[in-house]
Amino acid sequence: MASTEGNKLWGGRFVGDTDPIMERFNASIAYDKRMWDADIRGSKAYVKALEKTKLVTTDEMNQILQGLDQISEEWSKSAFVIKPGDEDIHTANERRLKELIGAPAGKLHTGRSRNDQVVTDMRLWLRDAITTLTDNALQLMSTMVERAAAEIDVLFPGYTHMQRAQPIRWSHWILSHAVALSRDVDRLQEIKKRVNVLPLGSGAIAGTPFDIDRELLRKELEFDGISINSMDATGQRDFVAEFLFWASLCLTHLSKMAEDLMLYSTKEFSFISLSDAYCTGSSLMPQKKNADSLELIRSKAGRVFGSCAGFMMTLKGLPSTYNKDLQEDKEAMFDCYDTVHAVLQVTTGVMSTLKINQSVMKAALSPDMLATDLAYYLVRQGVPFREAHGISGKAVFAAESKNVALNQLTVEDLSALSPLFGSDVSSVWDYSSSVEQYQAPGGTAKSSVSAQVDHLRDWLKKQMQ
Ligand code: ARG
Repeated sequence: MASTEGNKLWGGRFVGDTDPIMERFNASIAYDKRMWDADIRGSKAYVKALEKTKLVTTDEMNQILQGLDQISEEWSKSAFVIKPGDEDIHTANERRLKELIGAPAGKLHTGRSRNDQVVTDMRLWLRDAITTLTDNALQLMSTMVERAAAEIDVLFPGYTHMQRAQPIRWSHWILSHAVALSRDVDRLQEIKKRVNVLPLGSGAIAGTPFDIDRELLRKELEFDGISINSMDATGQRDFVAEFLFWASLCLTHLSKMAEDLMLYSTKEFSFISLSDAYCTGSSLMPQKKNADSLELIRSKAGRVFGSCAGFMMTLKGLPSTYNKDLQEDKEAMFDCYDTVHAVLQVTTGVMSTLKINQSVMKAALSPDMLATDLAYYLVRQGVPFREAHGISGKAVFAAESKNVALNQLTVEDLSALSPLFGSDVSSVWDYSSSVEQYQAPGGTAKSSVSAQVDHLRDWLKKQMQ
């Protein structure tokens, strides 16, 4: 027998060695060791259910619990030694348990399969990961909301189609991204409900033939509910796919924000400058300060969506219940977690340290951005909007033809387009009063943006309770 054969959880019916390349190909320990704690928690709960149904004695249970505690300590001190043949975390922990306590270790897996074990571990692990990501996202949102509150008076150009559109508040821009993040947090909580379901007690496919108290397992592991079908519980990974999609959408939101910030930080815009802490230089051009943080934030959406798409392809067309293809779930899940975890923290750093250049932002506003307001001036005197739009468009054309700014047109110039223009048209050319028109909920007036700040502050408070 080869040196590793003895550790295999399935060695009984096999004769001879596994091909060494196959051995490596098959093993998941290199990455699933991250679930050591979840695996031990699951086993500790399981042995209690075994004891309750008298499949292990109280003494055996205590030995197993003590052994598992020792293994846990070894992992937490980085003292656990992975041995050849430790195919996955489940095999490694059971192998070690046997070394520590001998024969009773062999009873731990009674009625359990790695099929229900692995999915239990993943759900436990992901539940904690979701808690961490929620905290990270809330931290970022609160940084953004407080920044918006502090800089509520700053105006700058809003763009559609990347062309100057209308004057808006910088805080309105910040909150537009914070609001998208609030939906990401909501979605993550929804996903958590579906993650937080106990599969243990499903066995390999058919369920458990023993009197395993699944309610006891649920309570021990603090799941909200119990899976209702053992084949579904062991064979479906929609909870992973949902998480991967969530990561893709969340980072797609942040990639949009990063792209805007990147533009705003160019010399051409100069609306903001990033802290040196989030930039890097060029090995060739000494003057360069590159926004690498933002570029990486922007890029990671591609990476996580790649994992999502790849894993969906893995799932597509699989036959029912557990197939080894499902082992691919873990690297995708871990990588997406690590990526989102890093992106949220770096984005928080970028958002809390960047400096705005208020005067440049203001100077970038131009009278043409008030052409809509010029039309509204007429609308307020009863002109149908469609007609007012046309008249204002003619004014824009007249200004361009005369090579002057829109607000340089005289009252006479404007009266030629509509008799309704009077000397009070000069009031249109004020950016501050322009934004103040937008007081309806959701708009860019100060009162409306303040209401958005209040709304998000309340929402954050509720989430943090
Ligand atoms: N390492 C495996 C995985 O991650 C554990 C489950 C193995 N189950 C089996 N029937 N071979 O999916």
